[in-house]
Amino acid sequence: MKSTSNPRLSTSITPALQLRDVTKTYRMGDTELHALRGVSLDIHKNEYVAIMGPSGSGKSTLMNVIGCLDVPSKGTYALEEKMVATMDEAELAEIRNRMIGFVFQTFNLIPRANVFHNVELPLIYGGMSRSERKARVELAIERVGLADRMKHKPNELSGGQRQRVAIARALVYNPSIILADEPTGNLDSRTGSEIMAMFDELYDAGQTIILVTHEDDIAEHAHRTIRLRDGLIESDAASSRAKRRAVNIAQQHQSLAMSGSAA
Ligand SMILES: Nc1ncnc2c1ncn2[C@@H]1O[C@H](COP(=O)(O)OP(=O)(O)O)[C@@H](O)[C@H]1O
Ligand SMILES: [Mg+2]
Repeated sequence: MKSTSNPRLSTSITPALQLRDVTKTYRMGDTELHALRGVSLDIHKNEYVAIMGPSGSGKSTLMNVIGCLDVPSKGTYALEEKMVATMDEAELAEIRNRMIGFVFQTFNLIPRANVFHNVELPLIYGGMSRSERKARVELAIERVGLADRMKHKPNELSGGQRQRVAIARALVYNPSIILADEPTGNLDSRTGSEIMAMFDELYDAGQTIILVTHEDDIAEHAHRTIRLRDGLIESDAASSRAKRRAVNIAQQHQSLAMSGSAA
């Protein structure tokens, strides 16, 4: 995978996304279903966040709001300082295409289109010239290690390769955020580990990643875990991996300081 420049060197104070008191209520005949009951959340650039919680707790609803597939019933949502809640459907579609990269459990590739064309699709919607599209598509496919599979159709690829195509498609517009809903849910554990290693590399290259998972060992790849229950945030904490990393850094600093004072 090719690395890009490191955006952590230019860390921004403004969150990549900010939700305030977001509620989502579905009306079913006479009854109201409160899928989100008041969620407030900041996620900064180059965070790696896992969203967990029991079935029905609001994970997909939250991902749909963050991904601009749905708007809150109440509350505000700003993505890169753009107020999403007040946008119309055309503006939302534009934001979705340019700023969000989606990766789904079921890959969601177009079966009749080859790898190149599947990855090219978001750029065609975006109205980019053919030569610029070609350069970007090839770069995205190289990043996921499938340069020798550009002309293959999805059914000529393994599950892991299909998910890598989906990741290339998600990356092709340089999105602000990658949203992944159970990206390893349809993969065996070894292939799942390969896909998670790819997300780790994207994170190291500066990508902001939010993923939904049921599995603790998948969530461990993230640095922050948000748990939902009944439409509310139950907990929001650094994952043990992030804690281990912080301890390691502290120990390094301490030993450096000690060797410094011994000299
Ligand atoms: N389109 C919808 N219409 C009505 N109710 C919905 C809709 N989408 C989700 N819900 C309800 O909102 C709640 C949260 O759902 P969801 O966000 O899918 O939870 P999770 O992804 O954590 O399983 C559930 O009670 C679900 O039945
Ligand atoms: Mg769900």
